[in-house]
Amino acid sequence: QPRLHAVSEAEATASRLGLVHRPRRNRKTDWARRLVREATLTVDDLIWPIFVMNGQATRTPIPSMPGVERLTVDEAVRAAEMAAKLKIPALAIFPYIDPSRRDPTGSEALNDNNLVCQTLRAIKAEIPNLGLITDVALDPFTSHGHDGLLEDGRILNDETVELLVRQALVQAEAGADVIAPSDMMDGRVGAIRAGLDANGFEDVQIMSYAAKYASAFYGPFRDAIGTAKTLSGDKRTYQMDPGNGLEAIREAALDVEEGADMLMVKPGLPYLDIVWRLKETFGLPTFAYQVSGEYAMIEGAIRNGWVDGDRIIPESLLAFKRAGADGILTYFAPRVAQALAERG
Ligand code: PBG
Repeated sequence: QPRLHAVSEAEATASRLGLVHRPRRNRKTDWARRLVREATLTVDDLIWPIFVMNGQATRTPIPSMPGVERLTVDEAVRAAEMAAKLKIPALAIFPYIDPSRRDPTGSEALNDNNLVCQTLRAIKAEIPNLGLITDVALDPFTSHGHDGLLEDGRILNDETVELLVRQALVQAEAGADVIAPSDMMDGRVGAIRAGLDANGFEDVQIMSYAAKYASAFYGPFRDAIGTAKTLSGDKRTYQMDPGNGLEAIREAALDVEEGADMLMVKPGLPYLDIVWRLKETFGLPTFAYQVSGEYAMIEGAIRNGWVDGDRIIPESLLAFKRAGADGILTYFAPRVAQALAERG
């Protein structure tokens, strides 16, 4: 209430507006800000996606993801050692398959000595306690760059799921801790769960890309795994329409029924509403993928000096925590883990 009577000088300085609530009181000092902070980012929140390729002792830069490189298997083991030292809980492995090994059915995905399996075995031999997550989808292995079998311009669902189950088994056999199906075929989580269980892999977890959108933010990733140029058409008949939110809940509900242990939303920052809705609805461990295009935007701006990397990266990750995510797949994982370790 505005005061119409004259106020003493002391009264005036004490409270000109007569406010009861002054939210700024809790922001006044660093200790108070820390005390009332709702969401925090720790190294336990990080999953580091890495790209692997054939060869020896080589790292190949990915131009659209400055600072990220494809690693040969031996270099991937070095990266895993670094991750373990930084206490990053898990890596997600993505392969760049030699074009000569790609074919229309992605048969290399079922080779139990393919690049993904070699990487799994090499890392498990050295650092058995680091979590290893593998992607289940055919796109790195197909000559057309689609996640499933392509016939007359259509992606076949049930036939693809059969192959995905076999791909998951090959990965589990080689040491994958978590199978992460990113293909968006209908029914794949249940089929993979049944396949794992029938083969003695009851303890292998499934992190389903429950809500994966048909997104332009995957562009740099497709450069990294070498499918950008070969992809025929787009993935809109299996990945979700960016306009849909309720559909994400229905998709996730199916994955939960089919046995998913963890849910994931992808891309990340443009889809925080989906992270929030899935966490609220199912209460399962829920992850977000800060994808390649998000990385490229942030890193590009940092490299141009337009934004402060030391602040924008943790802020972008804290946003996921505030939205309810239990963890984030991010290419910034080693940088953030390093900064958190230095801060102590
Ligand atoms: C493929 C897959 C994609 C990503 C992870 N797994 C790309 C796609 O669907 O084309 C994208 C990750 C990123 O952009 O960082 N199954």
